[in-house]
Amino acid sequence: MNDENKPIAFERLDHERIPMNMPDAAQPIELSENIRHRLDQWLKRYPADKRQSGVFEALRLVQEENNGSLNVALMDAVAAYLGITKISVYEVAAFYTMYELNPVGRHVIHVCTNISCTLNGAEKVLERLKETLHINLNETTGDRRFTLKEVECLGACIAPPVCMIDKKYYENVTPEKIDRIVADLSTEPHHE
Ligand code: FES
Repeated sequence: MNDENKPIAFERLDHERIPMNMPDAAQPIELSENIRHRLDQWLKRYPADKRQSGVFEALRLVQEENNGSLNVALMDAVAAYLGITKISVYEVAAFYTMYELNPVGRHVIHVCTNISCTLNGAEKVLERLKETLHINLNETTGDRRFTLKEVECLGACIAPPVCMIDKKYYENVTPEKIDRIVADLSTEPHHE
């Protein structure tokens, strides 16, 4: 395996989802004009003194603009823009698995391993993904195309096992089906 294909392991603070340990951002930054504009539109839904209600949307927008992940500087910028404490932003980002605290690949594959999915073969799908992508959970392929993650119930228990790739759900997944999905995503043009 050459260097380019070597899996990239996250530097997990596994309690990285514990925000108290987060270092201060070296360089404070501001949210982009695009984010500020979109967030301002969103904030019209809430009373003027409830800007903290926009924290979920702010983090979503920022993460999307930053190639799928957050960092301390961006979370601090969200706190400053909403006029709330940094810790209250870290708490949200750290608690919800839809927010990524480490860089991710172009496609993030979430495999549900909750009860319904596990009873219907989620482990086999997960093992096939590890084997095909040559990575473990919470790792990214060397070409930065795929990141593999395990999640709790995706709310589609009627069609297990379920995977979510980026924003799309795949139901009744089998190892063969996941092979085809990965193959399709692997042939997409790759822009760095
Ligand atoms: S248990 Fe997998 S979607 Fe609910």
